[in-house]
Amino acid sequence: MSLVVTGATGHLGRLVVAALLERGVPAAEVVALGRDEARLAELDALGVTTRRVDYADADALSDALAGADRVLLISGSEVGQRLAQHENVIAAARAAGVGLLAYTSIANADTSTMILAAEHRATEEAVVASGLPHTFLRNSWYTENYTGQLATYAEHGTVLGAAGDGRVSAATRADYAEAAAAALLLDQPRRVYELGGAAFSLKELATTVGDVLGKDVTYTDLPADELTRVLVGAGLPEGYAAVLADADLGLGRGDLHVEPTDLEALLGRPATSLADAVRAAAAPRG
Ligand SMILES: NC(=O)c1ccc[n+]([C@@H]2O[C@H](COP(=O)([O-])OP(=O)(O)OC[C@H]3O[C@@H](n4cnc5c(N)ncnc54)[C@H](OP(=O)(O)O)[C@@H]3O)[C@@H](O)[C@H]2O)c1
Repeated sequence: MSLVVTGATGHLGRLVVAALLERGVPAAEVVALGRDEARLAELDALGVTTRRVDYADADALSDALAGADRVLLISGSEVGQRLAQHENVIAAARAAGVGLLAYTSIANADTSTMILAAEHRATEEAVVASGLPHTFLRNSWYTENYTGQLATYAEHGTVLGAAGDGRVSAATRADYAEAAAAALLLDQPRRVYELGGAAFSLKELATTVGDVLGKDVTYTDLPADELTRVLVGAGLPEGYAAVLADADLGLGRGDLHVEPTDLEALLGRPATSLADAVRAAAAPRG
């Protein structure tokens, strides 16, 4: 069986390739796509086949997917350009007649009103329209969106957000990757998996971070436009800052809330807890 993973050079994709190999898939059956030469070389070293392909290059995508049995389309990172890019992958998968197209979408993609959800929803619609057998892996937030900011939380003694009391079902990339590998290997995966871990509010995040770091950390809820200004002040481009603030509003409305049942069913174990993820991120690197 030939399994193609797009975005394999990214944080999630590398973990998916590793999870497939850990599950016993022979390296010769895995094809990893991306653009970054250095990361493709790291994947080469694992024995998988690598191809340097840009989502904009429809011909290269057709070549890369020819003969594929199953494809995991990991959503691209260039917000605003993703639908056209994803459509190229879907067309190549259709031309190859793949037996399964799996797509990493966003939690509650069909109802979410977050700006970020629009391209995912449109991609899901394009996948359905292709007529290909498919599965949607609707990932909630990555826990790393928060654990990557531990130093900032510690420095300022606060977690800033615009999510109110909303709860987010964040899970680690490693858990999402393992779940994606498991779904890709099922005979007949479900059409939709709503994936996320045990939900927490940003107030609970602050408490957990404070407990693990042994510091006072509180949650400060801001109006979305003020959060945008703070993020711009911290160096983020204005458009991206506004999208992140909008995502917090979506979090407040429950757009990123799902039950952990689908993730845990694919994992066959409980999802990694927030406290464990924060402890791992805070641990000194050896
Ligand atoms: N749920 C969440 O909290 C969350 C947070 C952030 C992102 N996401 C979504 O989840 C995806 C995977 O997350 P991640 O952490 O692995 O992101 P990442 O590390 O930024 O990886 C993105 C991957 O997409 C590839 N890519 C982007 N544009 C491409 C293009 N034009 N042609 C070919 N490949 C392209 C990149 O390839 P190269 O690096 O080789 O160019 C890379 O492999 C993201 O792309 C984004 O859609 C979700």
